[in-house]
Amino acid sequence: MTTPALKLSGIDMHYGYVRALAGIDFHVDPGEVVGLLGDNGAGKSTLLKVMSGAHRPSGGTIAVHGKEVEFHSPSDSSAAGIQMVYQDLALVDAQDISTNLNIGREIRYKGPLGWLGFVDRRAMRKRSEAELDRLGVRTAPMTRPVEMLSGGQRQVVALARSAIRVTGEADGVLLLDEPTAALGYEQTRQVEALIRRLAGQGVAIVLVTHNLPLCYEVADRVVVLNRGSKVADVPMAGTEPDHVVGWITGARPSQFA
Ligand SMILES: Nc1ncnc2c1ncn2[C@@H]1O[C@H](COP(=O)(O)OP(=O)(O)OP(=O)(O)O)[C@@H](O)[C@H]1O
Ligand SMILES: [Mg+2]
Repeated sequence: MTTPALKLSGIDMHYGYVRALAGIDFHVDPGEVVGLLGDNGAGKSTLLKVMSGAHRPSGGTIAVHGKEVEFHSPSDSSAAGIQMVYQDLALVDAQDISTNLNIGREIRYKGPLGWLGFVDRRAMRKRSEAELDRLGVRTAPMTRPVEMLSGGQRQVVALARSAIRVTGEADGVLLLDEPTAALGYEQTRQVEALIRRLAGQGVAIVLVTHNLPLCYEVADRVVVLNRGSKVADVPMAGTEPDHVVGWITGARPSQFA
């Protein structure tokens, strides 16, 4: 049996009196794409934020590659190889694409200028162009400020920024919250291909989406949440779309009741 890249057991999460998650068991294996589905307010974003260390669960445990961990912040999970793309994107508006892609991994000039903290923007642009090429992602010129991009272009930049950080890391985990919500046809295709390519490199991927066809396109397995509980955990292939919709709406009884 493979050791899951990420495994959650018995996760509870309360927001005040609201119980957003109730005893959730969840795992994703290296190279696997898991679709995480559910209606508005079902708890999908909350579960991803528990995985990324943005929220401390009220109960339950988290293990990364078989080792139990406690995340106190997103930088803890990031150090463990977990990257999240948030539903509410976190890009620096006034900066250009290249700067956004290079936050936290700036290239300094060699020698005295670098010691003084001067960054080599040209080198960073060249590196980012090569990285996006490798990911098969095209947006806008590197020097364009992010505030001048369309919603969809911003989404692609945010996704690419996280994808670059897990590329080539066989033990990486990528958490995507609605990565294609704002995307048109062509860019959705790019993101689909990107997800499959990263999974092919061994990256474990959790994909939150309301787009069922996208799930059928890229997911190996699907987990459905309904009002904070897991109601289905099934392979994508061979599962009727009607059944998935039934679990999402609650018309179909939970597999775990
Ligand atoms: N910061 C918060 N404070 C209080 N309650 C919250 C907070 N965030 C989420 N909730 C509540 O927790 C529940 C789950 O919300 P969550 O954002 O995880 O849903 P979701 O499945 O991501 O929905 P959507 O598809 O609309 O994004 C909802 O009842 C929501 O109102
Ligand atoms: Mg959400």
